[in-house]
Amino acid sequence: MKLPQSVYNWTSVIGGAIALVSFFMFVFLFAISFFFDEGSSYLGLFIYIIIPIFLFIGLILIPIGMVVKIRRDKKKEKAGVLKMPYIDLNNTRHRNAFIIFIISTTIFLFLTAIGSYEAFHYSESVEFCGTLCHKVMEPEYVAYQNSAHERVACVECHVGSGADWYMRSKLSGLYQIYSVAFGKYPTPIPTPLENLRPARETCERCHWPEKFYARQLRVEKYFLADENNTEWDIILEVKTSSAYSAHGIQEGIHWHIHPDVKIDYIRDTSDSKKIVWVQYTDLKTNETTVYQSEEEPLDPSLITTITKKTMDCIDCHSRPSHAYKSPSHFINNAFTAGKLPKDLPELKSIAMELLNTSYPTKDTAMLFIEKGIKEFYKSGYPDIFNKKKRLIEEVISTIQTEFNKNIFPEMKVTWKAYPDHSSHIESNGCFRCHDGLHTSKNGKTISKDCNLCHTILGQGYPDSLQRVMINESLEFKHPVDIGEAWQENLCTECHKDLY
Ligand code: HEC
Ligand code: HEC
Ligand code: HEC
Ligand code: HEC
Ligand code: HEC
Ligand code: HEC
Repeated sequence: MKLPQSVYNWTSVIGGAIALVSFFMFVFLFAISFFFDEGSSYLGLFIYIIIPIFLFIGLILIPIGMVVKIRRDKKKEKAGVLKMPYIDLNNTRHRNAFIIFIISTTIFLFLTAIGSYEAFHYSESVEFCGTLCHKVMEPEYVAYQNSAHERVACVECHVGSGADWYMRSKLSGLYQIYSVAFGKYPTPIPTPLENLRPARETCERCHWPEKFYARQLRVEKYFLADENNTEWDIILEVKTSSAYSAHGIQEGIHWHIHPDVKIDYIRDTSDSKKIVWVQYTDLKTNETTVYQSEEEPLDPSLITTITKKTMDCIDCHSRPSHAYKSPSHFINNAFTAGKLPKDLPELKSIAMELLNTSYPTKDTAMLFIEKGIKEFYKSGYPDIFNKKKRLIEEVISTIQTEFNKNIFPEMKVTWKAYPDHSSHIESNGCFRCHDGLHTSKNGKTISKDCNLCHTILGQGYPDSLQRVMINESLEFKHPVDIGEAWQENLCTECHKDLY
């Protein structure tokens, strides 16, 4: 086949070769991912982003080479040449080149269309967000897979719909690629995420905020760090909405997101986990109530200058999809689920000790957990150690598995680094405002009453459980005797360091 003279130059030939190779690689990888569904995130990255870039470079080199050659030839011949390249379809060479050009352009445009569509989809996929920068995103991705939102794509919460947030996320993505490539990312990634799309625009696409949620019954088993891993049960009725569905969310926990309610707050500048100023506006009457800590009220002249934050879903559900559980929490769960033996003495206690140590890497953690458990039983309970070797191996592997789901040493991710605000035991959560110390001028307090948000329907050792009927409630009894300390202090006072 004859082609125009101008094609025969090194630039065009190399360009053609690059384009051809990329084209076949594209077809080959596309076929693999299409027919065998062997999509790994790297394959996607190659098919839809890297190969098309090479294909494009190859194709663009062909005309560049041709133009350069024509120019050069023209300079040599100078006289009697037309300025622009002309195309004569009666000339076989021109016709061949023209046909190749048209066919390859059509294929290229077609591939570009598929490619950009797929690239768009791919860059929005959970595997792209969760696994591409594996080390950095591992904690979020792993916790996400164990959450209620496992079937909700990352972008549904982090980007949402609309071209404008799509562009914003891709632009900030460029910076993230740079920071990952050069190791400039912070560990742990700081929260609250300042540029997260407002919850009103993301969560509320799926969750209707005015929806009534019936009160939830929570039956929890706790295992104390004593010799017998003593079980203690608590049955809690959580007042998500009102007692009667007809009342909707006029009372109860979701009262904060009632359409007539607006709550603004100011965080402490030195400790973002502290809330120093709260204002409740009744949007029906426009009446406002301001609550402040009596001990250290904000300077009134400051209040007008500081930007306030309006409370939304994230202020309570701070970990809707990446909840890192505390060791006490996940070990209790493992006991309850039967994954750990309750009759292995002091198991809770030694597990807490090992899990509450901070390790530089995952591998060291695995090693120390194994060593720690073995040494503990070998020296403390040699009989059990010798008789129950297999059981102890299983215990070690369970603890390691649970560790890997919740604690990520490389990224410094722990339950402490990312507190869950929807409770008040390991982090202050609700008690950031509901500590009984935020008071208004007319003497109203944001209540810490133990029956405001839930009632205790049962508590105690399983064989002597104290119980009451629904709509009644027990006074809280702390599982171990600490006197009045649980009333006088915030739970976090002890619990944030306990585990
Ligand atoms: C249900 C909504 C939701 C989904 C789905 C979701 N996230 Fe998040 N994510 C959040 C919220 C809310 C925060 C911020 C919490 C804060 O500011 O305290 C967050 C925070 C993060 C952070 C900051 C560090 C951290 O742990 O807080 C990263 C990184 C992250 N998400 C990545 C992902 C990835 C990757 C996926 C998908 C595998 C994903 N997210 C899916 C809601 C979601
Ligand atoms: C794309 C839809 C979607 C979006 C967006 C979404 N969720 Fe969800 N959410 C769900 C689904 C589905 C469930 C699971 C419902 C179930 O299991 O009954 C759920 C469950 C929950 C639960 C109950 C959790 C539990 O453990 O039972 C909470 C709390 C929640 N979502 C909060 C949020 C918050 C906060 C956001 C915004 C950051 C959000 N959701 C965004 C779909 C979504
Ligand atoms: C004042 C804190 C607070 C705010 C604000 C809040 N929630 Fe909740 N929400 C809770 C608590 C506490 C529960 C019950 C315990 C739990 O599931 O963790 C709950 C329960 C839920 C559930 C599960 C209900 C069930 O019974 O299955 C969903 C879904 C939910 N919230 C979504 C939202 C969304 C969406 C928003 C924002 C529009 C929001 N919440 C705002 C505290 C809050
Ligand atoms: C930013 C501050 C703030 C946070 C955080 C907060 N609240 Fe509130 N909450 C308020 C204010 C203000 C009121 C109204 C106090 C009053 O009655 O004067 C209130 C009232 C309530 C009420 C009573 C509603 C009614 O009238 O029936 C419940 C229940 C409640 N909160 C639960 C929670 C729970 C559960 C959490 C944590 C998941 C939480 N709150 C976190 C500020 C907050
Ligand atoms: C402002 C609301 C609020 C107040 C006041 C409150 N709690 Fe809670 N409490 C919660 C929420 C929300 C949860 C988490 C429920 C869930 O996860 O479903 C919780 C959980 C608990 C749990 C279960 C612990 C766990 O997570 O395993 C206990 C026990 C408890 N509270 C005791 C108390 C006691 C005792 C008081 C009084 C000093 C109190 N609470 C006051 C909101 C409140
Ligand atoms: C003075 C310190 C202190 C305070 C304050 C405190 N606790 Fe505890 N708590 C403990 C100790 C110590 C244990 C026993 C730990 C163990 O044996 O595993 C414990 C155990 C518990 C357990 C069982 C734990 C588990 O995970 O196995 C629950 C539930 C609990 N506390 C709830 C609360 C609540 C709710 C509050 C706040 C109203 C609170 N505690 C305040 C010291 C405290």
